[in-house]
Amino acid sequence: MPHELIDDFGRRVRYVRISVTDRCDFRCVYCMSEEMTFLPRAQVLTLEELSMIARAFVEMGVEKIRLTGGEPLVRRDIDQLIEQIAELPGLQDLAMTTNGAGLVKHARRLREAGLKRLNVSLDTLDPQRFRQLTRTGDLGRVLEGLRAAREAGFERIKLNAVILKGHNDDEVLDLVEFARAEKFDLSFIEEMPLGDVSDHSRDETFCSSDDVQGIIEQRHTLLPTTETTLGPSRYFRMVDSESRIGFISPHSHNFCASCNRVRVTAEGRLLLCLGNEHSVDLRAVVRRHPGDLEALKRAIVEALPLKPERHHFTTDGDVQIVRFMNMTGG
Ligand code: GTP
Ligand code: 5AD
Ligand code: SF4
Repeated sequence: MPHELIDDFGRRVRYVRISVTDRCDFRCVYCMSEEMTFLPRAQVLTLEELSMIARAFVEMGVEKIRLTGGEPLVRRDIDQLIEQIAELPGLQDLAMTTNGAGLVKHARRLREAGLKRLNVSLDTLDPQRFRQLTRTGDLGRVLEGLRAAREAGFERIKLNAVILKGHNDDEVLDLVEFARAEKFDLSFIEEMPLGDVSDHSRDETFCSSDDVQGIIEQRHTLLPTTETTLGPSRYFRMVDSESRIGFISPHSHNFCASCNRVRVTAEGRLLLCLGNEHSVDLRAVVRRHPGDLEALKRAIVEALPLKPERHHFTTDGDVQIVRFMNMTGG
């Protein structure tokens, strides 16, 4: 079995994003529709299956695993999974993307289990607007969660803000000031057209990273850096702050040529690209061959040629991907 996963375009897969559940306690307007139905539990990967998939990838050279959802903290056995993945030899980074609402309760246990880094979604600092954008979320709880995460020992916490014109584009500078004051990194994300969210018209709300950068540069000089977390963010620094400002710009600065990622959905589909449907059913493999790591590795290697050269997202409001974002956690 090859030791490295290299696709047909010479890109090496070093980063796997594993969605541990499609469920979430929020209903963010850019991620879900208001009435979502979730997968029956039997269709979601078990702890053992998740752990085995992570092991297979790490043995084939993957250095970074990010646990996503839905919301990963709604899964009860999440700290056991972290413990099992954290001890895989060769893994350098084990991270999670969360909505932050569960951090007051879970941050300490996550840290003890071996989680290294946290990214927390935060699109607004206004409680009412937060409720509007998340439909069910409570801003105060997320802010408390951020504090709890820091107290638990998490460093370099990154905030993610999806900026939508007419919704929160007037808060770009406030979010930057918050990140600077609290010493968080902050990434601004261009909205991607996954799932028919129907709450807003995506062509009208699209806000490019260049627009966001322009707003920030009215107040701060942004110095480009070559720093990377192996993710898609282009990072900038400011002379008078420890915080990094990142831009994730699938539309305006396509990063597919350097893509090093694949994803596993909550039901065990190996997705070769966020913006395409090419996938292979890893759950079928692990359920057909329980405990057979080699069969799983073979299926992963065989899937790799399906990785497309790039996504074809547009900003014209057309939804090409019917899958909602909560299936992959972004
Ligand atoms: P770091 O490890 O801190 O670099 O995290 P990350 O940016 O890789 O992960 P995070 O979960 O914080 O994702 C931030 C945003 O980047 C989300 O909206 C993801 O959907 C998006 N993203 C990550 N990888 C890709 C990708 O390959 N393609 C696209 N289009 N978006 C991606
Ligand atoms: N476009 C861009 N980012 C999205 N996220 C969720 N849905 C979308 C979308 N349609 C973000 C969340 C979270 C990250 C994993 O993905 O805000 O921070
Ligand atoms: Fe939940 Fe994250 Fe989707 Fe918001 S973006 S609904 S927090 S999965």
